[in-house]
Amino acid sequence: MSAQQPSIDLVGIVGAGFMGAGIAESVAVAGLPVILRDVDEAALERAREAIERSLHRAVQGGKQTSEDAAAIRERIETTTEWRALRDADLLIEAVPEVLEVKLEVMAQLEEIADEWALIASNTSSIPIAQLAAPFSHRERVVGLHFFSPVPVMKLVEVVRGLDTSEQTMKAAKAFAERVGKRPIVTKDRSGFIVNMLLVPYLMAAVRMYEDGFSSRDDIDAGMQLGCGHPMGPLALCDLIGLDVLYSVCNSLFEEFKRDEYAPPPLMKRMVASGRLGRKSGQGFYDYDA
Ligand code: 3HC
Repeated sequence: MSAQQPSIDLVGIVGAGFMGAGIAESVAVAGLPVILRDVDEAALERAREAIERSLHRAVQGGKQTSEDAAAIRERIETTTEWRALRDADLLIEAVPEVLEVKLEVMAQLEEIADEWALIASNTSSIPIAQLAAPFSHRERVVGLHFFSPVPVMKLVEVVRGLDTSEQTMKAAKAFAERVGKRPIVTKDRSGFIVNMLLVPYLMAAVRMYEDGFSSRDDIDAGMQLGCGHPMGPLALCDLIGLDVLYSVCNSLFEEFKRDEYAPPPLMKRMVASGRLGRKSGQGFYDYDA
């Protein structure tokens, strides 16, 4: 990045899933216009509905007025067109945690983005160095890892890739603060700080359940009531999404080859049978439509 780097006045987000929609909402809440891109109208409609529900909750909880919520909605544009993102000063990819899919998005961004736009990935476990490979200016590529539910969780991990410049790091941290988050800086290693600590804990809970050592409800009550966690580990797996966690486990295991990162067999079976957690209506718990 150089002196040509513009200020961040327009944000583009690729991937309108749970994370992408949440990031778009947080950006719009902070007063910045945002363009959310996905492959089809159905995905965008789901994102608009999720944002609507979240804004409704924020209004109900006294976090936003209904006038503010209307203005936030106005700042979020949705599109299926790549070229709609070409004027964005910061582009954040938030597509599924699959290397090939993310690399395809990065190659598109190299094509359409302004040469000096910041490029960020919301990956939770894929090396930024790998995602930066399609770019000629790799110094502008950085990790911005948000936490679910994004509008509520106050943290962003800012991940320095091998080629990320100091200026990019500074801009990424300033952006995180601007959207109301506390940035923490981490090196480019699978799991970064939080998932490196969180995932072995969650997988230990899944193994405990899989082995029949205790019931789902007792495992979750143990950590909620015994340790003051807002939700138990199995409920948290459902919130994050079992497919997401399965990918994160595999990335961690591939990187460190340590048993505590290997996904338990039950995870693989649940993902294969479409029990992905809240988003599919069934995980360790059942959810009403
Ligand atoms: N906008 C702003 N604020 C909102 C909001 C919204 N859309 N929705 C809810 N809130 C606020 C509420 O007003 C409330 O604030 P208050 O405590 O000041 O009153 C607070 O958020 C909690 O909301 P609720 O009381 O309605 O909801 P719950 O009590 O059910 O809490 C939860 C839900 C926030 C999800 C809580 O259970 C929690 O913190 N769980 C843990 C989540 C977690 O660990 N996330 C990290 C996952 S790891 C990850 O994402 C990384 C990835 O790579 C795997």
